[in-house]
Amino acid sequence: MADVIRRPKRGWTARTLLTGAVFVATSAFAAETIDPAALKRLVHQDCGSCHGLSLKGGLGPDLRAENLQHYDVDVLMDVILDGIPDTAMPPWRPLMTQEEAEWIAHYLLTPEEQ
Ligand code: HEC
Repeated sequence: MADVIRRPKRGWTARTLLTGAVFVATSAFAAETIDPAALKRLVHQDCGSCHGLSLKGGLGPDLRAENLQHYDVDVLMDVILDGIPDTAMPPWRPLMTQEEAEWIAHYLLTPEEQ
């Protein structure tokens, strides 16, 4: 087992710096992926194509906050990510990150945001 313990040696500093740089780049990217204006557009246009541009319902049900109060953020996020099987409600997992789905879930549950 001793041979798997990584000990500082030549190159260690460079590797550490590189790992640090990748980490910083990744977290900066993650922060940039939440773009509230773009997500609001997505909700009203893409979700709105079925749920109505003002989310009052169409092919899909009314998505205004007062109609979603039986959901908590986690369940709503799962509905968005996984869709509702055997209905026209599609899974959005291929198209958005978990963080974006969580943002949308919060958005839909917050009347003063809409
Ligand atoms: C292709 C049409 C379509 C699109 C696009 C769509 N939905 Fe749906 N959605 C539906 C349908 C149909 C239902 C109702 C399914 C059922 O019969 O239970 C539904 C149901 C839902 C529900 C459950 C509502 C309730 O009252 O329980 C939520 C939440 C929801 N959609 C959110 C979204 C969000 C957020 C988006 C965009 C990211 C979206 N939908 C995009 C068709 C769509």
